[in-house]
Amino acid sequence: MTFPVQFLDELRARVGLADTVGRRVRLQKRGREHVGLCPFHNEKSPSFTLNEDKGFFHCFGCGAHGDVIGFVMRTEGLSFPEAVERLAEQAGIPVPRMAPQDRERAEQEQSLYTVLEAACAWFEEQLHAPGGRAALAYLTERGLSEETIARFRLGFAPDNRGGLKRVLAAKNIEEARAIDVGLLRRPEGGGDSYDYFRGRILFPIMDGRGRVIAFGGRVMGDGQPKYLNSPEGPLFHKGRVLFGLSHARNAAREKRDAVVVEGYMDVIALHQAGFDHAVAPLGTALTEGQIQLLWKIAPEPVLCFDGDGAGQRAMFRAAERALPILEPGRSLRFATLPQGEDPDTLVRFGGKQAMAAVLDRVRPLTDILWQMETAGRAADTPERRAEVRRTILDRVRQIADRSVQNYYQVEMETRLDTAFGRKPFRRGQRDARDFRPRGRMAPRPGMGAPALRTAHQATGNPESLLLRAEQGFLAAVIVAPALLDEVGEQLGSRTLSRPDLDRLRQELVHVHAVQPDLDRAALEGHLRGRGFAELLERVLSREVYEAAPFANPAKALEDRRKEWLEAWEQPHRREICTEILEDSKALGADMTPERWAPVSAKKAQFETLKASDLTDEDAGVTGLENTH
Ligand code: UTP
Ligand code: MN
Repeated sequence: MTFPVQFLDELRARVGLADTVGRRVRLQKRGREHVGLCPFHNEKSPSFTLNEDKGFFHCFGCGAHGDVIGFVMRTEGLSFPEAVERLAEQAGIPVPRMAPQDRERAEQEQSLYTVLEAACAWFEEQLHAPGGRAALAYLTERGLSEETIARFRLGFAPDNRGGLKRVLAAKNIEEARAIDVGLLRRPEGGGDSYDYFRGRILFPIMDGRGRVIAFGGRVMGDGQPKYLNSPEGPLFHKGRVLFGLSHARNAAREKRDAVVVEGYMDVIALHQAGFDHAVAPLGTALTEGQIQLLWKIAPEPVLCFDGDGAGQRAMFRAAERALPILEPGRSLRFATLPQGEDPDTLVRFGGKQAMAAVLDRVRPLTDILWQMETAGRAADTPERRAEVRRTILDRVRQIADRSVQNYYQVEMETRLDTAFGRKPFRRGQRDARDFRPRGRMAPRPGMGAPALRTAHQATGNPESLLLRAEQGFLAAVIVAPALLDEVGEQLGSRTLSRPDLDRLRQELVHVHAVQPDLDRAALEGHLRGRGFAELLERVLSREVYEAAPFANPAKALEDRRKEWLEAWEQPHRREICTEILEDSKALGADMTPERWAPVSAKKAQFETLKASDLTDEDAGVTGLENTH
């Protein structure tokens, strides 16, 4: 019985090794590993280790070793297909039944990997054989260490037509298979097949799991083409692969960051310099599929572009391509290299710091979009301004995700307003002269939402009002975890004013994401275990329930939800209001993009908060365009 590789990968990812093993073995977390007493032999001190990232367990005592499927096979005494079915059932994923022709294809693919692996190993050997001396010297002169060469498995294809062909034949590899993966090639007019790569340094291209699927071959001198890549075939589709992905994956996940550069040498040089989260497409612009691959390892990968005109055009193309597929929390960022440098030359001659400096100056996608549509465009008449506005908003409409689209629209409108000074038209229009900023606004009775009125009547002071409300937000979801289904998104989107409360907020969001069905007791237990016991005493208190009635354990879920959401919009909007006023005063007439960016972000935030009960004072804030 054969299962599709993708299915097995997904299964391993979904069931989780530590979870499965943890049901039989008491595990203790130690750094990245878990350790425990080996279930496969008798022992008193733990020599059984498990690494979730790598997906393997290993016992230093008895040598037992395997992945989650192997673990279930051994502990349950099951065959491979039985263990797979058992785990799939637990994880709730259907087991794909392979049609005979699919099975045949899977087996063939398996044998194709074997061909490529054999070739890769031979190329590596050749690099270190006497015939590869010049090639090795070339790489060394370009600054690559022996270790880097080994890690990326760089190799050399000797300059003759039959070297690899003979080696593969000796390993009983069918010629047809080697032709399928592009290692041998048959002449157009017929005749004997011959080696595709000759006299080139070879860069193996691997899939995300580190299996060789193709090669890029570089000439050592100035020959053409500089790089020759394997032709596309059953395993290799250039638009779906990133060079270096298998090497960068863990580092990128850990750093929550990835860097995308242009060439093979760039990736390798960056890894050697410690930027081990670098990858590259294969000589083409980034495809949608590659962006999706990147998002699996980092939420906002940084794309590096050359500092020249072509680099800028490529940057715009990447931005255009990303817009339709943006999702909440997922974007691209952009960095520009100094003119005439690529990351390889940059780290070689400027050191790590030179590259770090480039990565320090990343710009968000919104900046690129703005630049793309405004740079060099006249906006000196109303018609021209309207035209700029139209093209920008047309772009924004390409974003398929509604929520992201809305926030982009707000952001771009704000930028347009600030750049063009649109006259405010919102509710409560008042003359700029009437407008008296009044610093931090004290809440007045009747101004807050019903849910909070009791609160400030009880305390009077805005600081403690905010604190009580924030405690209330958290208390409400702890006493009624089901509320998290309704308000989890809000709770995940805003930082609370105190670090301890905010840590609790993050923990709640996290727990909800991984274990959505906990009841109150289980949730509280978990939180106490995470060090929040003391904070819970303060948050789950009568003072809080009184000030923020939606937190009261006696509240019905529907009322709780309504009042929670109402209150959530209240204190914060006023805060932002005040900040915008203060910032824009400080800004005066000096509106450089760098200086207004934070203000505009705040305004965007303000405008997305519910505008339902703006008071006159609040409305005045939208009049700040009038002040310069
Ligand atoms: P570059 O020309 O920038 O080369 O091509 P490079 O990566 O800096 O290589 P070195 O430093 O000269 O050795 C960038 C990428 O474009 C693809 C390759 O993927 C290369 O890494 N490319 C380039 C080709 O596929 N074919 C070519 O002929 C040239
Ligand atoms: Mn280069």
